[in-house]
Amino acid sequence: MNVAVIGTGYVGLTTAVSLALHGHRVIGIDVDEEKVKQLRKKKSPIYEPGLEEALETVVEQGTLSFGSSLADEAAEAEILFICVGTPESEDGTADLRYLFAAVEELRLLQQHDPRKRAVVVKSTVPVGTGDRVADLLREFASVHVVSNPEFLREGRALRDALNPSRIVIGADHAEAFALMDQLYERLSAEWVRTTRANAEMIKYASNAFLATRISFMNELSRLSAALGTDIEVIARGMGLDSRIGPEFLRAGLGYGGSCFPKDTIALLQVAKEQGVSLGILEQVREVNRTQPSWYVQLMRERLQGLVGKRIAVLGLSFKPDTDDIREARSLPVLAELLEAGALVSAYDPVSAEAVARLYPQVRYAQDVYETLTDADAALLVTEWKDCVELQWDRVKEVMASPVLFDGRNAWPTQIVKRHGFTYCGVGKS
Ligand code: UDX
Repeated sequence: MNVAVIGTGYVGLTTAVSLALHGHRVIGIDVDEEKVKQLRKKKSPIYEPGLEEALETVVEQGTLSFGSSLADEAAEAEILFICVGTPESEDGTADLRYLFAAVEELRLLQQHDPRKRAVVVKSTVPVGTGDRVADLLREFASVHVVSNPEFLREGRALRDALNPSRIVIGADHAEAFALMDQLYERLSAEWVRTTRANAEMIKYASNAFLATRISFMNELSRLSAALGTDIEVIARGMGLDSRIGPEFLRAGLGYGGSCFPKDTIALLQVAKEQGVSLGILEQVREVNRTQPSWYVQLMRERLQGLVGKRIAVLGLSFKPDTDDIREARSLPVLAELLEAGALVSAYDPVSAEAVARLYPQVRYAQDVYETLTDADAALLVTEWKDCVELQWDRVKEVMASPVLFDGRNAWPTQIVKRHGFTYCGVGKS
């Protein structure tokens, strides 16, 4: 099929590449000309495992191209994805300005070149947005509006796009469902065919629920630390109940990234507009906000003060395998440590430069062992492989004192203890 993808951010680029890998003819459209130039040269603007190699393949095959004008370069597309950003506005609601700008371009395209098209909204948008888009395009009888939320995770975006957990399609016409069937015929996943509003709500509800699981475990980790129980063992015991399941029960410094923080506040705002209170979700955000300071306070107690203490921070991006630092927990952690008078060094394989712009007071090292040299304590913030799989003898040798704070419960507890480290995880010791 002929497909256009408007917006080449995380979701747009991954969608474009995966559809091209499935043999569709795809054009990625972006207003950012620099980005388009870079993409034409087969360079991915984001760090995402496997994405650049796949991009190279499909561009060379000629199934994926890029452009900056919908009307000039994508007129033949029968399916047009909207994958533009919906950032958080000042009041917490989703900012839909890029989305409606894209819809306006689609209107102009349809006026100019009327044909049968499906407009597929993949951006995360508040419930009712798809219907608003449909109203704006109502004059064109041959245009269907579909809501098709995306559930991919950063760091494994392409894998998730090619093997989705489910395909959710919201539409109001059999022809629209049939077009999406055809488009995704090579994906094997369960389908949910429903209204646009339900599809939109599924996305928010899923993210809010996953964030809830994390905050629930983080809240329990505080009790676990007080009681001397082990949150990891507790999570394993809970996860074996098939009604609970093992995923997303990892206690740590909290969730970050572009989705959970933004989508939880957006859902709360929508609820507020409806006069509905979502108390659980309020608390989910509160636990996430306070988890870094709770942990830094614990460090302060264990180290008998942080003033003048050399702390080596390992990992800065919001999770491993991404250079994304949006809402990364490293940011409040660094702020708290500096505020407490600690001397901070930090290492991250890809995002040190971006964090350095925000925290120039920190000393950024080229590798893990350099960060750890002369440190009074190490703190794991992001569980990158090269921050987790360490040569413990060497670590012990370079550190001034062998104290480990495992902010992601990812270091091998038994091994580090055997090496003589003092270990403190999140809700486990
Ligand atoms: C998330 C959703 O998983 C995805 O379906 C949606 O499309 C976008 O939002 P993403 O933000 O890329 O994806 O990352 P994810 O792997 O879900 O992790 C989010 C945050 O939660 C990270 O900061 C991670 O460290 C944290 N996390 C995750 C935990 O603290 N504990 C866990 O058990 C799982």
